[in-house]
Amino acid sequence: MKLEIKDNQKIFFTKSSSSIEIHPFWLRERLNEKEFLDKGTQQRLFDPSSMNSDIHIKKAKIVGEYLELEFNDGIFSKFNISKIKEELSDKDIVKNIIKMKWDSNLSNPKKFEYKEDFFETREMYDLLVSFYQFGFAIIKNVPTENNYIVKFANSIGSVRRTNFGEHFNVKSKSNPNDLAYTTLHLSPHTDNPYRNPVPCIQLLHCIENEVKGGFSTLVDGYTVTEDLKKEDPEAYKILSEVKVRFKFTDKNVVLEDCSELIHLNEYKEFKQVRFSPRLDYVPVLEKDKLDLYYKARKKLSDLYNSKKYRIEFKLIPKDLLMMDNYRILHGRTKFDPSEGKRFLQGCYIDFDSTEGKLRHLKRKLNI
Ligand SMILES: [Fe+2]
Repeated sequence: MKLEIKDNQKIFFTKSSSSIEIHPFWLRERLNEKEFLDKGTQQRLFDPSSMNSDIHIKKAKIVGEYLELEFNDGIFSKFNISKIKEELSDKDIVKNIIKMKWDSNLSNPKKFEYKEDFFETREMYDLLVSFYQFGFAIIKNVPTENNYIVKFANSIGSVRRTNFGEHFNVKSKSNPNDLAYTTLHLSPHTDNPYRNPVPCIQLLHCIENEVKGGFSTLVDGYTVTEDLKKEDPEAYKILSEVKVRFKFTDKNVVLEDCSELIHLNEYKEFKQVRFSPRLDYVPVLEKDKLDLYYKARKKLSDLYNSKKYRIEFKLIPKDLLMMDNYRILHGRTKFDPSEGKRFLQGCYIDFDSTEGKLRHLKRKLNI
């Protein structure tokens, strides 16, 4: 990328053979001298939204690493060119991590090791990068006493509290309000599709696991839906267009939200999957359309439930599993409670926690 001055007062940047003029106001908004920018908070000390946008550059020159500009409102400022280039090249680490597709061949996912000061270390940075690549991460040796999961979550960002509490205990109980609290097999699903917004990341911490069954299962919703797009574009299309209603009811609350099973972004790319076939209600559409929808959902369900895409492993005490609930489906094999205890604790955090931590560690460790 190149930054250059034309006619003594226009700033252009050139990127892959196209040259674009940078609006003078865009630069004027980015004054960084101490009377314009608070150095501690990096927040502006002036309000550009209240300014007349008729701003132009009277004089411009490049001196070493700096672009020196004089604006028509009398302001003179020096801009660090590498900082401008960084913003223009959109080098945000979170947006630039490429998702890795995976299926059952991912036999030995990388594990991370908890230790003192873990949250400020290179190990934590590597964990977060891996989390954004694969959609999940496993951390070994995380202390289990005093609901440590909450401290763990709050050391990355903030716990997202729900009506299940700040954290929830996953063990079988009588009169459960969710099948998670039984000993039954749980087929692959995403959590809480009925919430708005859906919790972004689930943490599951193994406290005790003495049973022979009760294996954790994971499926990559990104891999499955990308494969579906290639193999059956018609099914993919209808599942990414029809909004279904997800609903949760118990004696204190009725939660509802509507979304496609495959939710795409504005560029028609993968954004989120929701799948919880005990809680979804498709609207009454024309019969032909519903024929297509039901066939497509069955196809998606078969893929999610097939061995081809599933990894299965046993969590042992002190293991903490962190999952992207917008991408990864999770489940569990059934277990026999007479064999011993099985006790997991869970909680949710939002993406701003992991994204914020990742950017912070990149800055701090100068990576
Ligand atoms: Fe779940």
